[in-house]
Amino acid sequence: MAEKPWQGRFSQPTDRFVEEFTASIGFDQRLYRYDIEGSIAHARMLARQGIIGGAEMEQIVTGLKEILAEIEAGDFEFSVALEDIHMNVEACLIERIGPVGGKLHTARSRNDQVALDIRLYLRDEVKTVLSYLDKLLTALLDQAEKHLGVIMPGFTHLQTAQPILFAHHLMAYFEMLRRDRQRFAEGLRRINVLPLGSGALAGTTFPIDREFVARELGFAEVGRNSLDGVSDRDFAIECGAAAALLMMHLSRFCEELILWSSADFGFIELSDAFCTGSSIMPQKKNPDVPELIRGKTGRVYGNLVALLTLMKSLPLAYNKDMQEDKEPLFDTIDTVKGSLKVFADMIPAIGVKAERMRQAAAKGFSTATDVADYLVRKGIPFREAHEVVGRTVRYCIEREKELPALTVEEFRRFSPHIDADIYDHVTLEASVNARAATGGTAAAAVRREIDRARRELDQSP
Ligand code: ARG
Repeated sequence: MAEKPWQGRFSQPTDRFVEEFTASIGFDQRLYRYDIEGSIAHARMLARQGIIGGAEMEQIVTGLKEILAEIEAGDFEFSVALEDIHMNVEACLIERIGPVGGKLHTARSRNDQVALDIRLYLRDEVKTVLSYLDKLLTALLDQAEKHLGVIMPGFTHLQTAQPILFAHHLMAYFEMLRRDRQRFAEGLRRINVLPLGSGALAGTTFPIDREFVARELGFAEVGRNSLDGVSDRDFAIECGAAAALLMMHLSRFCEELILWSSADFGFIELSDAFCTGSSIMPQKKNPDVPELIRGKTGRVYGNLVALLTLMKSLPLAYNKDMQEDKEPLFDTIDTVKGSLKVFADMIPAIGVKAERMRQAAAKGFSTATDVADYLVRKGIPFREAHEVVGRTVRYCIEREKELPALTVEEFRRFSPHIDADIYDHVTLEASVNARAATGGTAAAAVRREIDRARRELDQSP
């Protein structure tokens, strides 16, 4: 059994089950690259500051690089007795290069080491999330642009409300996801702070150069308080919150894709590549991918609550509780990356059934508001106009007619202010294009937003 670095204080071996119970190596081994990267920077700093010798540093760095290669090749044997990735790597280093390997941990604690590893990991992952988001945002812009002429019913309460452009609907998700992107990018600034040098909690007695380590590892800042450096995980929780919001948005989008691809709506056709069949009903094509992403939203919310609860009321500084931060964080990142990746591929492959959307938009008296607005422009107070059109709609329902099918005489039964020009206002195109102010669904307004969005996307860091 491997010797524990902290064995000196103890006279009895750890209980076998406790050893397994307290170990994190099962999940923190995936931090190996960051752990080694951080150790190399730390060793270089120690040598620069004369805390260890230059030759010693060379031996340590070479040893660490060999360990990295070994792990990457799948040849490294992780030991539960050595608890976590930090002690596994260190023990292996000492085994390889001898007692000089034991100098690596000078002026460092696992407490600042683990904080460093998580920050390095998250910095990398958030950058990947940003790139996946960019791909999805671009796919949305492309689809919106391609289908700029397609009119669909807009809903409130899932009841037909007003006609809108399909592109406008897609651009609503663009806006949501653009804000999600901002949140992740913002969080990156707070992730990118060096905790190493905090020591166990109080700093270190050695003359370290934290600014050098920060430069080596690409950190924009050095943490200003050693207690804070080892004991907060707010940057990770923030990321979990951004992820929860993102998944909430994706889940709504998924829900709509599921509805739209049903036989009853028939607005879109999802590519076969993103659906599965039924083992009993031969006609079925199920929208599994959107359903699964919708479902995965739950675990991302759960992970956020787990992280918040984990950190609640913890006294400063490090507490073993904090080892529990990794699994929820990893799971959130994995889930978000997987969901974004598949989403970005699914969006361009959507088949748009423009005629079905149009037919649906023409139903449900979707241009009733336009008739009311028409009356308002003739000087009728809006409340009165609303009442008039309400009665007109009831008449339509009784006769199973849509508004554009009424004759002028029929319209005039409800208001003498309605003339033949009403037909210029009750068509789908007229209704959509009348909403031309910024943020409206008129084709010109949507086109402006698509162009603007494309420019902004090109400029985002
Ligand atoms: N495995 C630990 C974690 O993930 C590393 C830090 C341990 N520090 C300590 N003092 N036990 O949080």
